[in-house]
Amino acid sequence: MYHLVYISDRNQGHARDMEQFVNNASNFNEEHNVTGALWFSDTEFIHLMEGDTGDLETVYNYVTNSASHNNVELVCIEECGRRFFGDWSMASFGDNTHSGMIAQQFGTSRCFQPRKLPPDRLINLIYFLEEERKRSAENAIC
Ligand SMILES: Cc1cc2nc3c(=O)[nH]c(=O)nc-3n(C[C@H](O)[C@H](O)[C@H](O)COP(=O)(O)O)c2cc1C
Repeated sequence: MYHLVYISDRNQGHARDMEQFVNNASNFNEEHNVTGALWFSDTEFIHLMEGDTGDLETVYNYVTNSASHNNVELVCIEECGRRFFGDWSMASFGDNTHSGMIAQQFGTSRCFQPRKLPPDRLINLIYFLEEERKRSAENAIC
């Protein structure tokens, strides 16, 4: 099992309905047994994908051709042992999800600049968001 992380700049001239966007992507990922999560702000995307190398390559090649972003930078592809997003073909976190906490814990200066973070910090950030999501879902049940 491998995970792949990339960062890209949101194409400002290409406004998308993010919910529909994520749904479309999820279907394709499911066909390729790829799971993961996408974080987005008004200006950037961070995407962590999990799967076998061939499947990751297929989805990544598809994604890089999207007109919705540019300056796609492959951050890392490495063995990860197991899936962290077993249930999610594409979880998504908008910028306002825990934005204060993100800036505090992962910011390199007063603002959050994901391109300045090393790969392990980006992975921790995505995992952190998922842990927070699970925690708030559990609290909602109690
Ligand atoms: C940041 C980003 C992440 C994406 N992730 C996926 C993905 O995981 N799976 C997928 O099938 N498509 C993914 N896509 C592609 C979109 O779902 C969509 O098919 C694509 O954006 C085509 O339309 P567009 O060229 O108008 O953007 C991604 C696109 C972007 C910009």
